[in-house]
Amino acid sequence: MSRALVVGNWKMNLDHVEAVHLTQQLGVILASRPAPHVDVVVAPPFVDLRSVGSVLEADRSAIELAAQHANPLPSGAHTGEVSVPMLARLRVRWVIVGHSERRALYAMSDDVVAATARAVVAGGLRAIVCVGEDEAVREAGRHREHVRAQVLAALEGLSAPEGDVVVAYEPVWAIGTGRSAGVEEVREMAHVIAEALATTRVTGARVLYGGSVNADNAADLLGGGVDGFLVGGASLRAESFGAIVSAGESCYAGGR
Ligand code: PGA
Repeated sequence: MSRALVVGNWKMNLDHVEAVHLTQQLGVILASRPAPHVDVVVAPPFVDLRSVGSVLEADRSAIELAAQHANPLPSGAHTGEVSVPMLARLRVRWVIVGHSERRALYAMSDDVVAATARAVVAGGLRAIVCVGEDEAVREAGRHREHVRAQVLAALEGLSAPEGDVVVAYEPVWAIGTGRSAGVEEVREMAHVIAEALATTRVTGARVLYGGSVNADNAADLLGGGVDGFLVGGASLRAESFGAIVSAGESCYAGGR
């Protein structure tokens, strides 16, 4: 791909006032350090989407809005859930699908991940499908087949416009631990994912890495052949997120 993708997953952090503040700071940083070769996306909590969207619109910002989750159904008796059409009305362009925290803490099965990815694409939005093994699976040496199976299950029966599906490789043991995967580990898993993708009907999918990405390791990790990052903790500060975007720009500006 000729463009990097850097997504900030704010998780359950920042109320709408704090979210507006961070969005404005990010706008200032990206204006002073333009990154024309990087698609920049932020994924605030649902309750912040409208406020953050208004700031981005007023600033004519190139930053795009993502939701952290969606229910696969369009409406109905699902207390606490939010649907894809509701997100689309808020000009949300992307949805994170099957983050490991949703899989582990909210029992999101492979089937629900697949149904959600289909609903996102059918609703005209873009899906960031998350896959990744936990520590026990890696120690057992089963990470390659585990991740391959997750990719195939999530994309089962899915066809999407070119580039509307992104796969984020996020090893659970690297998320929020300060212990990012090594470049060679990232390279190996990016390859496994690319091979799995080649057997699906999804085309042009960018592959991201996520798990303790920060301003210091971002440039190195891009050497693992991924197209960008899904960033948690380091996306909560404009300066560190801006530095990760800049690492993407340096890597892609010369044409990757
Ligand atoms: P982290 O989270 O960057 O804080 O490790 C990444 C993620 O969960 O998407």
